[in-house]
Amino acid sequence: MKDAAPKTIRLSDYTPFGYLIDRVDLSFALHPSATRVRSRIAFRPNPEATDRRFFLHGEELSLISASIDGVAVTPREVPGGIECDVPDAPFTWEAEVEVNPEANTSLNGLYMSNGMYCTQCEAEGFRKIIYYPDRPDVMAPFTVEIEGDTPVKLSNGNPTGPGAWDDPWKKPAYLFALVAGDLVSFDDQFTTMSGRKVDLRIWVRSGDEGKCAYAMDALKRSMKWDEEMYGREYDLDIFQIVAVDDFNMGAMENKGLNIFNSKYVLASPETATDRDYAFIEGIIAHEYFHNWTGNRITCRDWFQLCLKEGLTVFRDQQFSGDMRSHAVQRIEDVQQLRARQFREDAGPLAHPVRPEEYIEINNFYTATVYEKGAEVIGMLKTLIGEEAYYKALNLYFERHDGDAATIEDWLKVFEDSTGRSLKKFKHWYQEAGTPRLSVEENFHDGRYKLTFRQQTPPTPGQPQKKARVIPIALGLLGTDGQEVLPTTVIEMDKPQQSFTVEDLAAKPVPSILRGFSAPVILEHEVSSADRAFLLAHDTDPFNKFEAGRALAKSVLVAMLTEGAAPDSLFLGAMHDMVRDETLDPAFRALALGLPSIDDICQTLHEGSVVPDPQAVYTARETLGAALAGAMGESLRGLYAQHQVAGAYSPDAGAAGQRALTNAALGLLTHLDGGALAAEQFSQADNMTNQVAALGSLIQNGSGNDQTAAFYDQWKSDRLVIDKWFALQTSMTPPSRAIEVTAALTEHADFDWKNPNRFRSVLGGLAMNTAGFHRADGAGYALLADWLIRLDALNPQTAARMTGTYETWRRFDADRQGLIKTQLERIAGTEGLSRDTTEMVTRILGA
Ligand code: TRP
Ligand code: ZN
Repeated sequence: MKDAAPKTIRLSDYTPFGYLIDRVDLSFALHPSATRVRSRIAFRPNPEATDRRFFLHGEELSLISASIDGVAVTPREVPGGIECDVPDAPFTWEAEVEVNPEANTSLNGLYMSNGMYCTQCEAEGFRKIIYYPDRPDVMAPFTVEIEGDTPVKLSNGNPTGPGAWDDPWKKPAYLFALVAGDLVSFDDQFTTMSGRKVDLRIWVRSGDEGKCAYAMDALKRSMKWDEEMYGREYDLDIFQIVAVDDFNMGAMENKGLNIFNSKYVLASPETATDRDYAFIEGIIAHEYFHNWTGNRITCRDWFQLCLKEGLTVFRDQQFSGDMRSHAVQRIEDVQQLRARQFREDAGPLAHPVRPEEYIEINNFYTATVYEKGAEVIGMLKTLIGEEAYYKALNLYFERHDGDAATIEDWLKVFEDSTGRSLKKFKHWYQEAGTPRLSVEENFHDGRYKLTFRQQTPPTPGQPQKKARVIPIALGLLGTDGQEVLPTTVIEMDKPQQSFTVEDLAAKPVPSILRGFSAPVILEHEVSSADRAFLLAHDTDPFNKFEAGRALAKSVLVAMLTEGAAPDSLFLGAMHDMVRDETLDPAFRALALGLPSIDDICQTLHEGSVVPDPQAVYTARETLGAALAGAMGESLRGLYAQHQVAGAYSPDAGAAGQRALTNAALGLLTHLDGGALAAEQFSQADNMTNQVAALGSLIQNGSGNDQTAAFYDQWKSDRLVIDKWFALQTSMTPPSRAIEVTAALTEHADFDWKNPNRFRSVLGGLAMNTAGFHRADGAGYALLADWLIRLDALNPQTAARMTGTYETWRRFDADRQGLIKTQLERIAGTEGLSRDTTEMVTRILGA
C-alpha cells in the first residue's frame, strides 16, 4: 500500500461511486498495537454510475485476507488503496486487516487516548480502519461487534448485546465511531415529542462524572429545542457522548455516539469559566443538531461541507440566542466572524464558502465554511422572512432525508418553496472575499437619499467579482433620538443602488446594517458626534455596540497615525454607556472591551496603513488607561454593585454580571497596579473570577505569586492547567511573551503531543499579537520550530495552526522577510505532511 500522491481534487470532477452498499457488518478484536478488523460488505452495481472501477480507500492498513462471495482474492495495491475485479452483480466482500492504534499519533482513524480506544473518521479517517469507499455519498446501515478486555465498548446505533451495536440509519463512513475503555457514565433520559424514551449517557474517565451535569442539561434543552423550532425528533433509543482528552477539534457528530474534546463537556464552577459553560452549551447543541443537518441529510462530497456546517452553526447560534440573549449572542458571533473569517477572507487562504478545489480537505474546516456559511443562511432568512424560512427547511428535511445532498439541492428547496430565483444569491457560495459596502448620504428639501456601492477585492484565483445580493437592514433616527424609520430591509443586488425617504424635517442619523445583516465591511464616513449619538440612542443593540466599536477604532487610528491623544468625546460616551443601568450588564461588558490588537492591525491595513503591532499594543494600553482614568469611581461602583452573591450559577444573568465586574477590574488594574485583582484572586470561589483576576495581573506584568499559587492549586486538573499555560502565553506583555512561552515549553507539564496543551502554549502565543510579532522574528521562529515538530506526529493540528502566519502581508518588509524565511523553512522540511505543505504553499502564494 502506498500513500496517495498530493493531488488537487476538483468539484467539477465529481462522479458517483460504481457500487451501492446494502449493509456493512464489522467486528473488532481490540489490541493496543494489533487490532484486527473484519468487514463484511454487501455491494451491488450502482445503476446511476458509469465507472465500475472497484476502488477501496485504505491507509496504513495491513491486509490479512480478502474474499468475494467466499472466494479468496488478491487485490491490487494502488495509490491510496486497493482495486479488485468484481462481478457485475451483487456480491459480498469480506476482508480482515490489522491496525496499530497505539502508534497512531495523528488522532485520525483508530487511536488511543489515556488507554482508551477512540476513533475520529471525519473527514477521511475511516480508510485507516478498513478498506472502504470512504466518501460521504456512499451510505449504508452498519452493525458492529467489539471484542476486547475493556469494560465499556461503544459504537453507533442501538445496543444489541455486550459490545454489539446496530445502526439502522444508513450513514456515510465519516460518521462511524468506536470507543472502548474503562469509562463511567452519567445517565439521564429524554422523552421525545412522540413519547419515545431515549437513554442519554455521557461517558467520562472515572473521577469526572461530577462534571457532566451541565452538558447533560444542555443536551436535553437541545433535543427539546430542535423539536419545537424545527420539528426534528431524535431517531434512536440511545444518545451517547464520550469525552476524550486527545482530540484535534472541538467535537464530532458521529451517529448516536458523539465524541467530544473533554474541555467541551466537563464543567464545575471551580474549574470552568462562564465562557466554558457557554461553549459547552453551544457545542453540545451543534453536535446534536447535526443528527438532522449532517447525518440524516449528509453531503454528497466534501466541497459541500458548508451544507452541514454552515446550517448547523446557524442553528446552534439561534439556540444559544434563545437560551441567553439574542443581542449579546449576535455581537459575540460577529466579533468571532470578523476576527477569524474576515481575517481569512483578506489573506492568502481566502476561499469560497463552497470551495472548488482542495488538496487536503482537513484544511477546509475553516471560519469561512463554518461561520460565513452560517451568515449566508442568516441572509437567506432575512431576505425571505421567518415563516418562509421554516417552510423551506421543512421541505428540505422532507425532500432530502437519507440523501447526500449539494448546495444546488439546498438552494432549489428555497427556490421551489418561495418561488424566487436564487441565481444571484448563489455567488455568496462561489466567491471568496468580503464585500466593501460604501455609503453616501444626501439630504435636500426634506428628501433623504442613501447611495450604496459594493465592491469586493480580488482573492487568490478570483481576480474579478460579481455584485452580491446584500440585505441591508436600515433604520433612521431623528435628532431627538426617536426612530423616524423602523428597521427596513433593502435588498441590494447591483453594484450601486439608492434608497430615498421623503418629507423629513431634518437630516436623520442612519443606522445601517442593523443586526449585522450581511457579512460585509461597511465604509461610511461618520462623525464622532454621530457615532456617540448612535451609541447612546440606537434601538438596535448590534449597531449600538458597533457605534462604540467604530468610535474606539477611529480614536486608536488617530492616536497611531496622527499622534492624537485619547479623544474625550469617546471617553465620555463610553462612560455614559457603562453607567446606563437600563442596559444588560453582558452588553455593557462587551461594549466596554477595546478592539483586539489583531483587529486594530486589520483596520489599519484596510486603510492602507502598515501596522506596527508594538505601537498598536502601546496605543491600546494608553487608551485603556485613559478610559479607566475617566471612569475611575464609576468603575469601582460598578465593580461593587454587580458582584454576584450566593452560590455560583452559570446562567446568562449571573455570567453577564461577572463579565461586567471583570471588565471593570481589567480597566481598574491600569489605576491600582493590580491591588484589586490580587484581592479578587485570593477570594475567588469560581474559575471565572479567578481567571479574570490572574489575567489582569499577568497583563499588567505582575502576578508572579498568583501564577505560582494557581499552578499549585490546580496542578492535578489538566483542563485548568491548559488555562494556566494559555493565560501566560497569551497575556504576558509583548516584551516578555516569547521568553515566557519558550520557558513554558520546557515545563514538565508541557505535553506537546496533546493538542489542547499545544494550543494553550503555542496558540496562546499566536494570540498575543504584539508578542508574537516581535520585531526580531523570534516569535515566528519559535512557532515554526514547534509546528515542524508537531507535523511529524499530528499533521491536522500542525497545518491548522500555520494559519497564524496568514496575515504576514499586512506587515512591514522586515517582518514579511522574517516570516517568509520561517514559512520556507517549514515548507522545506523533509517528510512534511500533505496537510501542512498545502497550507504553507497557499500562505506563501504564487
Ligand atoms: N464535524 C465536526 C463538527 O463540526 C468537526 C470535526 C471534528 C472535524 N473532528 C474533526 C473535522 C476532525 C475534521 C477533522 O462538529
Ligand atoms: Zn459541525
